[in-house]
Amino acid sequence: MSLKGSAGGAKQQARGALRVGVIGAGIMGSNHARVLAGMPDVTLVGTVDPLPAHRARVTDLTGCRTFASLDELIVAGVDAVTIAAPTHLHHEIALACIARGIHLLVEKPIASTVEEGRDIVSAAQQAGVTLMVGHVERFNPAVAAIKHAISGEDILSIAITRVGPFPPRMSNVGVVIDLAVHDIDLIRWFTESDIVEVQPQLSSAVAEREDIALLQFRTASGVLAHINTNWLTPFKARNVTVATRGKYVMGDLLTRQVTECFGFKPDGSYSMRHLPVGHDEPLRAELIAFVHAVRSGGLPAVTGDEGVASLEIATRCLEAPARPASSARKVPRRAVG
Ligand SMILES: NC(=O)c1ccc[n+]([C@@H]2O[C@H](COP(=O)([O-])OP(=O)(O)OC[C@H]3O[C@@H](n4cnc5c(N)ncnc54)[C@H](O)[C@@H]3O)[C@@H](O)[C@H]2O)c1
Repeated sequence: MSLKGSAGGAKQQARGALRVGVIGAGIMGSNHARVLAGMPDVTLVGTVDPLPAHRARVTDLTGCRTFASLDELIVAGVDAVTIAAPTHLHHEIALACIARGIHLLVEKPIASTVEEGRDIVSAAQQAGVTLMVGHVERFNPAVAAIKHAISGEDILSIAITRVGPFPPRMSNVGVVIDLAVHDIDLIRWFTESDIVEVQPQLSSAVAEREDIALLQFRTASGVLAHINTNWLTPFKARNVTVATRGKYVMGDLLTRQVTECFGFKPDGSYSMRHLPVGHDEPLRAELIAFVHAVRSGGLPAVTGDEGVASLEIATRCLEAPARPASSARKVPRRAVG
């Protein structure tokens, strides 16, 4: 691979290993580094993070070099980076990498705003670099099994539940941008259609931002879809059901059990079977797809445009008319009587 700003370029080129760096050594970035360190034909050049404690943690985990700034990583020489810094920094970091001709995978959501997302997409197009967005759920083998099961079917409705407790560290976004954006991407991907109608119901029961969202959608192809997401459920659950004319498919994305009901008979009887589901780690499958896209120059599995389209729908959910202040439930309700 061609190298950007690397003195050791010729050597790597001869070996053909793709030199990849990770930007951000938090929860996601540490996982990126762990997976990249174990991938064949990839050299993990190092991880960038301004916090010494986070740099020390990722070195303990992977043995990789660390850098306090992006410039230091660039001097070390990289063909590609994965950006797992906080979302509000994606735009600035992505543009800096693109300006140096570095291919990039940007964690979801692609950026804080649709405008910033579009900027990243057009800069990447102009520079001719590969841009992929980290909608990792597409690489969950249970999701892949559902996608396979509904391929060629006439999809009627989709319901997705993604609930759990509050994350240990609260970022500055609510459940729509943090969680529902995964499922907006899945709805668009399953239906291969754009979302044209949005009916959101949001509530902030505990947090400043919305922590409960019930979102309804209609796609251009006429599919009705529903997302139920919150940070108020004591346990994690991620479930997908898809109704088609010929099948009803149910998937648990955590246990990775996928079941389909089919062969509906006029007397109400039907058949049921468990579908085969793979064992791949989703992040590894995602990073393999990214490396493949960089090497082949082909379209990545999740394009920048798709990342922007999902962010745009999530943003529309947040832009719906605000509820009257009196209906906001900031204190626990009291029982009467
Ligand atoms: N795909 C998924 O399922 C998934 C899951 C969680 C988070 N994410 C996304 O990954 C990104 C990071 O989330 P996280 O949960 O790992 O957050 P985090 O807070 O754990 O990690 C962010 C890291 O970036 C570092 N950082 C801050 N400024 C930086 C800079 N200028 N350059 C490099 N690093 C910098 C921070 O010190 C921190 O270590 C977010 O965009 C988030 O939406 C995706």
